[in-house]
Amino acid sequence: MGNAPPSSTPRHVAVIMDGNGRWAESRGLPRKAGHRAGAESVREVVDACLDLGIEFLTLYAFSSENWNRPEKEIDALMKLLEQFLKTKGQEFGKKNVRLRTIGRTQMLPDSCRDQLEKVKADTAKNTALTVILALSYGSREEITDAAQRIAQKVAIGQLAPEDISRETVSAHLDTADFPDPDLLIRTSGELRLSNFLLWQLSYAEFFISPKNWPDFHKSDFREAIEDYSRRHRRFGRV
Ligand code: IPE
Ligand code: IPE
Ligand code: MG
Repeated sequence: MGNAPPSSTPRHVAVIMDGNGRWAESRGLPRKAGHRAGAESVREVVDACLDLGIEFLTLYAFSSENWNRPEKEIDALMKLLEQFLKTKGQEFGKKNVRLRTIGRTQMLPDSCRDQLEKVKADTAKNTALTVILALSYGSREEITDAAQRIAQKVAIGQLAPEDISRETVSAHLDTADFPDPDLLIRTSGELRLSNFLLWQLSYAEFFISPKNWPDFHKSDFREAIEDYSRRHRRFGRV
C-alpha cells in the first residue's frame, strides 16, 4: 500500500462496526471483551479521519434491533458506552472533534444520556471532524419518525402535500445537518445494511472488509479510502 494521498477523499464515511462478538469468541473470551477491544478501533479510525481531512464519520454503535440481544450483553454495551464517553470528552476536545448522535437516544439509560449530552455540549464548537454515533438507531424507525413529523406539519396547514420533496424528507431525518455518506464500510464480511441509513446511502460506495471490527486498524481504513478514490461514481449518468 502506497502513501500517496488519494485523488478524491470522501467527505463523509459511515461504518458498520461488526464482528466484535466473533472476535472475542474466536479467542475464548466473553463477547463484551470484543466490544471493549472495538473501542480501540474507533480511536484509530477517528485519528485516520483527522489525518485524511474527512469531515464526517458516522459509526453504527447500537441498532434498534440490538435491543433484542440478551440483557447481559445490552448492559455491558451500555456500560462500555458510558465509559467510552467519559474518556472521549477530553480527547475530542484536544483533537477538535465534535460529537453528534442519530437514533432514538431517549431509549438509552439515563446515565448514558447524561454523558452523551455533556460530550455533545462540550464539543459543539469543534470543527476538525464530526463524529456521529448511531445509537438505538434504525433507518426504518428514523423514516417513520420523519413521516410523522411531516404529516403533523401538513395537518396543521404548515406544509402542502404537493410541496413535499426529497429535500423535505432529508430535512426531517436525524441526519438533516449532515451530507449523505460517500463511502460505507462494513467489517466482518457481512453483505447487508442491517437497517442502517437506507435513505442516505442511496449513492454511497461500499467497502466490505473481511476483518472483525477489533482487527480493523488505521491501515485498513486508509486502504478503504484509497479504494474509494479509484471508484467512478456515476449517479445514473453515463
Ligand atoms: C458489532 O459486533 C457491535 C454491535 C452490534 C453492538 P457484534 O456484537 O454484532 O459481533 P458479531 O457480529 O456477533 O460477531
Ligand atoms: C449491525 O450489526 C449493528 C451494529 C454494528 C451496531 P449487527 O450484528 O446487529 O447486524 P446483523 O444482526 O448481523 O444484521
Ligand atoms: Mg454483528
